[in-house]
Amino acid sequence: VGTLGDAAAAKGRYFGTAVAANHLGEAQYASTLDAQFDSVTPENEMKWDAIEGTRDSFNFASADRIVDHAQSRGMKVRGHTLVWHSQLPGWVGGLGTADLRTAMNNHITQVMTHYKGKIDSWDVVNEAYQDGGSGARRSSPFQDKLGSGFIEEAFRTARTVDAGAKLCYNDYNTDGQNAKSNAVYAMVKDFKQRGVPIDCVGFQSHFNSNSPVPSDYRANLQRFADLGVDVQITELDIEGSGSAQAASYAAVVNACLAVSRCTGITVWGVTDKYSWRSSGTPLLFDGNYSRKPAYDAVLAAL
Ligand code: XIL
Repeated sequence: VGTLGDAAAAKGRYFGTAVAANHLGEAQYASTLDAQFDSVTPENEMKWDAIEGTRDSFNFASADRIVDHAQSRGMKVRGHTLVWHSQLPGWVGGLGTADLRTAMNNHITQVMTHYKGKIDSWDVVNEAYQDGGSGARRSSPFQDKLGSGFIEEAFRTARTVDAGAKLCYNDYNTDGQNAKSNAVYAMVKDFKQRGVPIDCVGFQSHFNSNSPVPSDYRANLQRFADLGVDVQITELDIEGSGSAQAASYAAVVNACLAVSRCTGITVWGVTDKYSWRSSGTPLLFDGNYSRKPAYDAVLAAL
């Protein structure tokens, strides 16, 4: 077993990475991606501001480069993301309620239609809950104008467009059991009871010393899986270095492997050089594309 993707596949999972289109032309970036990973998530290229920066004017060029790269190599693609408060162009927030509803459903429809049949899982809604103990929804144009039903509406629209894609809710600080994950759990339970189409929950899993891998990570993944959805680790990165970082990565892999409905793991970047955490070293390959102890630990755990 030589690569992350092959090792994960032997366990019935995928092993993916976030990808930036503007790095695909870098030989070592592309060769590391192609050798190691069997799933990709566009890091920014499918976000609302990248695709529909101007209303009704859709630009798929950068995202298409990633999807084409992945498809020609047999990699899965995670679609990220359709409805999110961040990286949202200003015009969306300026709309009135009726217009916003139309714009949200049109955005979902246009983007999912363009990629129909090419996406394994879509993050339909991203980060709709607040941090902290309230379990409340986060303020956003969608929440504030459409009300709490916007998530259900987004999922129902998404299902009508591409019935072959798995539809996920994705969030962070929901990796362990806490007020935020309890609120997401209650939503998913309600959706399953009422037949709202949801197939999966994504756990971003951005970890650092303030937010380490939770001791109840596996138990939390399992309780969601027990609701009848798949669970996926969608944006994994772990600040640190050496054996401590390696042990944390191994713990994440072991948690996923212990939950039969944990279908895959995505790390949030190929190399530390391009991590969104530019001050840190949270990924599996260093800035020279050398394998880190974290890489060896992941491969050993798979
Ligand atoms: C980050 C990207 O990595 C950065 O390049 C960008 O500047 C900001 O967004 N949660 C998410 C991801 O769902 O889309 C975010 O990605 C990281 C946090």
